[in-house]
Amino acid sequence: MLLFREKIPADWLPKVLSNINAVLVDHAHLERKAATSALNLEKYRDLYERVDDLNSIAIEELQHFQLVLALLKKRGVPFGQPFPSPWITALMRSVRNGQRAQVIDHLICCSLIEGRSCEKFQALAAALSPIEPELSQFYASLVESEGNHYATYILMARAIDDPETDRRLDFYLDLDATLMRQPNPHPILH
Ligand SMILES: [Fe+2]
Ligand SMILES: [Fe+2]
Repeated sequence: MLLFREKIPADWLPKVLSNINAVLVDHAHLERKAATSALNLEKYRDLYERVDDLNSIAIEELQHFQLVLALLKKRGVPFGQPFPSPWITALMRSVRNGQRAQVIDHLICCSLIEGRSCEKFQALAAALSPIEPELSQFYASLVESEGNHYATYILMARAIDDPETDRRLDFYLDLDATLMRQPNPHPILH
């Protein structure tokens, strides 16, 4: 289902596993931002009819946010400041202006973020299974939901303009691959 043209860098998993508490703080912010992104998409005229679907995604992301906050509490980790993600910043910076162009690009960016989350949560669930089974199960439990968000956003873009979605997806998958190859020393999911 996922169309990525570059693998997750080999140093990502060890970096994340050795900083798991910091990563959970980053993850909490990621879910918070996913909820606000779903709500932000409701500003586009082309998505007015999808407001219920977008609200459902926002509610789900807010529930994920709550779950991560509960995990932080349980582990005695304070909810702190997020690290900015160079990958997300670069994706969002290339969203074009203009109603139609902007909504397609914004949906594709949201979709790729959900898709990479889905892929990374799967990798984390597998790697954590022998060392932190409870956390492993938590990550495994999010995979399907983030995968659905990935698919929903792409289908929303396709319903607005299918050929344009293909063109922009081609651009964004190349951009994602280029960005994936750039070093990122911070203990963050993206
Ligand atoms: Fe989520
Ligand atoms: Fe999501």
